[in-house]
Amino acid sequence: GAPIEVDLSPIAEGQDIKVFWRGKPIYISHRTKKQVEEVRKVPVSSLIDPATDQSRTKDGHEQWLVVIGICTHLGCIPIAHEGNYDGFFCPCHGSQYDASGRVRQGPAPLNLPVPPYQFVSDTKIQIG
Ligand code: FES
Repeated sequence: GAPIEVDLSPIAEGQDIKVFWRGKPIYISHRTKKQVEEVRKVPVSSLIDPATDQSRTKDGHEQWLVVIGICTHLGCIPIAHEGNYDGFFCPCHGSQYDASGRVRQGPAPLNLPVPPYQFVSDTKIQIG
C-alpha cells in the first residue's frame, strides 16, 4: 500500500477521525492539554505494556496521537472516547486503552500500535 497524507486542520481539539491505511483503521486524535497531562503523569511501570507517551507521539506535536485501531486482544475495532481512561474502549471483551492508546485494562495484552508516520507540515501527516 502507498503512503497516505492526512490533513489535520479540520480535526478540532478533543476530536478524532478514522482513516484507512493498508486496509487498517487508523485513529488520529487531537488530544486536549488535559489528556496529554493525564497520560504523561501515569507511572510507566504501572502499565500492562509499559511505554511512555513521549515514545508514542512526535516531539513538538504532542497533541496528536496516531494509532492503528485494532484491538490487540482479538482484533475488534475499539471505540474512541469511550471507557474509563478517556481513550478507547473495545466492545468485544471490554479492553480499555488510554488517550495514548496504551492498554489499561485487559484482556488486551498490548498497546494499540503506532503506525509509521511523519509530519510533513504542522497540519499534515504522511502515514506509511
Ligand atoms: Fe478487544 Fe477482545 S477483541 S477485548
